[in-house]
Parts: sequence; C-alpha cells; structure tokens
Amino acid sequence: MIEVKNLYKSFGSLQVLRGLSLNVEDGQVVSVIGPSGSGKSTLLRSINLLEQPTYGEIWLDGKLITPPDPYLHFDVIRASNTYKKLKAAGGKSDEELIADIKKNDLLKKHEGSEYAAMLKDITGKNFQSTNEVREKVGMVFQHFNLFPHMTVLDNMIYAPTTVKKIPKDQAIERAKQLLDSVGMLEKIDVYPGTLSGGQKQRVAIARALCMEPEAVLFDEPTSALDPEMVKEVLDVIKKLATTGITMVLVTHEMGFAREVSDRICFLDQGILIEDAPPEVFFSTPKSERARIFLDKVL
Ligand SMILES: Nc1ncnc2c1ncn2[C@@H]1O[C@H](COP(=O)(O)OP(=O)(O)O)[C@@H](O)[C@H]1O
Ligand SMILES: [Mg+2]
Repeated sequence: MIEVKNLYKSFGSLQVLRGLSLNVEDGQVVSVIGPSGSGKSTLLRSINLLEQPTYGEIWLDGKLITPPDPYLHFDVIRASNTYKKLKAAGGKSDEELIADIKKNDLLKKHEGSEYAAMLKDITGKNFQSTNEVREKVGMVFQHFNLFPHMTVLDNMIYAPTTVKKIPKDQAIERAKQLLDSVGMLEKIDVYPGTLSGGQKQRVAIARALCMEPEAVLFDEPTSALDPEMVKEVLDVIKKLATTGITMVLVTHEMGFAREVSDRICFLDQGILIEDAPPEVFFSTPKSERARIFLDKVL
C-alpha cells in the first residue's frame, strides 16, 4: 500500500536520503533500523508529508502523494524536446539517453514551461490530497506530540471532528473504545501534563487510531521513555500489529523488532542496505555495515 520510489532528500548540501525504494504491502509490519542520522525519521516524515522529497515519488494505495518525479516516467522523458534533440543527434541507445537526461537533470535545465505541464499532467491523473494522506496514515512520534492545552479526550477527537468531520458523539464513542484498548480510559478527562511518558505514548497511539488509518508510522515510540515504561508501550504496539493494520516502525528495540516484524529494513547513510525477514537479518546479515551495527546494539 506504501510505495517509495527512488526517494532523495537533501537539506541544503546534506544528502539525507539517497535513492531509497521500499514497498510495504497491506497489513505488513516493517521495522526500519539503522544508525542515528541515517535518515529513518526523514523517511517516515516523507511518507506522512511532513517533508517533501527532493527527487522520487511516494504512492499510497496506487495514488501519488508527492509531486511527480519526471525522471521516473520514461514516457515523459521521451516526450520531451530534450530527448528528441539528443535522439536526433544519434549515437546513443535509448537507455543511455534516458540515463544521461536523469543524471544531468536535463529536463529541469531545458524544458521550461513544458516541464511544468508534464508534471501537472501526471499529478492530475493520480493525485491524493494531504488531508486524505493524513487520514490514511497515522503517525506516532518519539516525543508524543499531544496537545498540552487539551484534555486526553479532546486530543483524541480533535482531528476526527475537524479533518474528517465525524459527528462529535460518534468520535467520543470511538475515542472511549480506543482509550480502553490501551488501558487509558480512566484518564480521559486529564491533561497530558499529568501523565507519565508511557501513558502519554499510549494516548498518542490511541489518538492516531481515532482516524481509522490504514497504516501507522512509529518513529522511535519508546526512545524517550524511562525503561520501566517501555514494555507497556511495546505491548500496545504488539497488540496492534496483530490486527492487520499496516505498520512502519523505526525502533532501537531489536528484540521487539524481531518479534513483531515481517521485514527488517536496514538503512545507512540514506540508502536501504538490507531488506529481509527478521530471522534472516538478525542471524545472517549480508552487509558489513549491518554486522557492525548489530554488534553495537545487540
Ligand atoms: N529539517 C532538517 N534540516 C536540516 N537537516 C536535517 C533536517 N532533518 C534532518 N536533518 C538531518 O538529516 C540527517 C538524518 O536525520 P534523520 O532522518 O532524523 O535520521 P535518523 O532518524 O535516522 O536519526 C541528520 O544529519 C539530521 O541532522
Ligand atoms: Mg530519527
């Protein structure tokens, strides 16, 4: 349901993601692991449209959620004047021409307003709005990101009633069920400031589920917690993993990742180095870099 195609992301001269491709099927649980600074958060934030890719595309349920990348559409490249000119000059194969055009960013350099028209055409055929994406994909952050000035209940029903326009009584009903499922119903009327880290994170998970998302992205959901609170949060995520919801999880909890994941994706310096079932990855990592990483964390 989530397709990341050749994703590049730079902040100024810092290249954080460097051509990352990843497919997550419906109902899969994928853990993304890797050293600090390898681009894990940037990947999740890109999927939830908190960052815009420099190059590449992200598709959700067959719809494009990022601006289109003309270099991923060979028909677009072939329709360009740049291609036609180079083709007419002769001497190179089709593959070589397309590779040259991509490598040297020639569409951006030469196509002018036609370039914009190409992009608009792809967008028009496939586009999904930011709100639709945020309804489908929930996100849980390391630092919970609850609204401090709202009670637990108001945190829960804010997005469903404003973005999704669900009637308030219905949203409250669902919020209660979800709070109950994470063991937080009795805290429904308190403010987040009075909760422990583990409790805040359980509320944040329930809040993400209020939108009835198809997928939830977790960015180090237990990294900011005191050790004695990690388990209560992992237990909630574990239970969720069995419900058939799609999950992408950035975590440093290797035992947990091994237990709940269908796949482990190992990222280093913005590149997806390994993508394997947990049994395979943890017992026989293919790359030296993964072995070094595992030696440090296991
Ligand atoms: N908004 C930003 N502006 C500039 N640099 C950023 C920004 N976000 C992340 N970075 C940098 O990108 C790199 C990767 O960050 P991140 O995706 O958070 O890695 P990870 O989650 O794997 O630790 C880091 O060097 C970080 O400092
Ligand atoms: Mg991070």
